[in-house]
Amino acid sequence: MAFNVVLLPGDGIGPEVIREARRALERVAELFRRDIVFTEHLIGGAALSDGRPPLPEETLKAAMASDGVLLGAVGDPRFDHLPPGSRPESGLLAIRKGLGVFANLRPAKAWTGLESSGPLKPEVLAGTDMIVVRELLGGLYYGTPREWNHATDQAINTLRYSRMEVERVAHVAFGLAMQRQKRLVSVDKANVLETSQLWRATVNDVAKRYPDVKVTHEYVDACAMKLACAPASFDVLLTENLFGDILSDEAGAICGSLGMLPSASLGDGPGLFEPVHGSAPTIAGKNIANPCGALLSAAMLLRSGLKLDAEAASLERAVETALASGLRTADLGGATSTAAFSDAVLEAITMKA
Ligand code: NAD
Ligand code: IPM
Ligand code: MN
Repeated sequence: MAFNVVLLPGDGIGPEVIREARRALERVAELFRRDIVFTEHLIGGAALSDGRPPLPEETLKAAMASDGVLLGAVGDPRFDHLPPGSRPESGLLAIRKGLGVFANLRPAKAWTGLESSGPLKPEVLAGTDMIVVRELLGGLYYGTPREWNHATDQAINTLRYSRMEVERVAHVAFGLAMQRQKRLVSVDKANVLETSQLWRATVNDVAKRYPDVKVTHEYVDACAMKLACAPASFDVLLTENLFGDILSDEAGAICGSLGMLPSASLGDGPGLFEPVHGSAPTIAGKNIANPCGALLSAAMLLRSGLKLDAEAASLERAVETALASGLRTADLGGATSTAAFSDAVLEAITMKA
């Protein structure tokens, strides 16, 4: 049986890191004798430059018919003057909505060898191993009404959540907690926002179905502080769309570099796998971007999308081996190029642990 993987390189460093992720997937497929068929499609600024909308119809169609979608990044300064609905980023929001991927999993951990690469003292970072579960289809990103009224000089966005939207992502987070350390922190702003009060009440109701999981609630401001001061205290961090966007960049940075962080966005159909970082336009085309976020997203695609656990583990081990050999891209303080780092990962891919 052939697996059908859709690649969406997108903008900036997206094409560079997706090229390496594809090579790694091809190597894994060759070694494990799997048949993976790749097709590439346009999204974001790359689609706009081609005279197409940020999410062309055939891109969504291909994504929906696939076994998994691997996306690089979207965002291009040439389109920054456009209103939100016309920008490259709207293509990403549209494909998330189109695929119905409501749960965004962003694992962040202290990597062996990268203890001193980030801003934290190694002894503060030691033992950090968390997963941010970000609600991906609700909140301010999608709520209506929304507009910038130039006549009145006012703008509005709507923060709306339904119980159902909180429940379904909470079940994903509790399910993960059951497979991990059984600790879940739910992050909100329930001291100010009604949506957060609904969020907290719903999480407490869902928690009754998972009596083994220890649940605590944190306000988002205090949580941002605690991530910097005691990152190892987190196991599963569950939060709404915008808070999750912000806290996951922080989680990535404290672990060494945002460039290390992968993600999986899951719903009832094909999943969307993408590094957490953006298109990083100032370093695009220089062969210096860290490909780890994309490589580890490809591993998440193997595991969650294609159900190929051993193959996923082999790719993750290979990334660890390349790091252990001392290779570092510029964001981690080294001088290894994107391609050279990826070559080392490819060489380290083996079938046995
Ligand atoms: P960014 O994540 O692109 O970059 C933030 C910082 O991290 C920059 O200094 C960048 O050089 C660095 N960086 C990011 N990824 C890196 C990597 N793999 N290797 C080395 N360094 C890396 O965020 P930004 O600068 O705020 O946004 C740039 C563009 O990307 C914007 O258009 C934004 O909307 C878009 N964006 C897209 C996504 C996505 O597609 N998922 C995510 C975030 C931002
Ligand atoms: C991310 C990005 C996106 C988001 C943008 C580009 C729409 O920042 O994936 O974290 O805010 O979700
Ligand atoms: Mn983000």
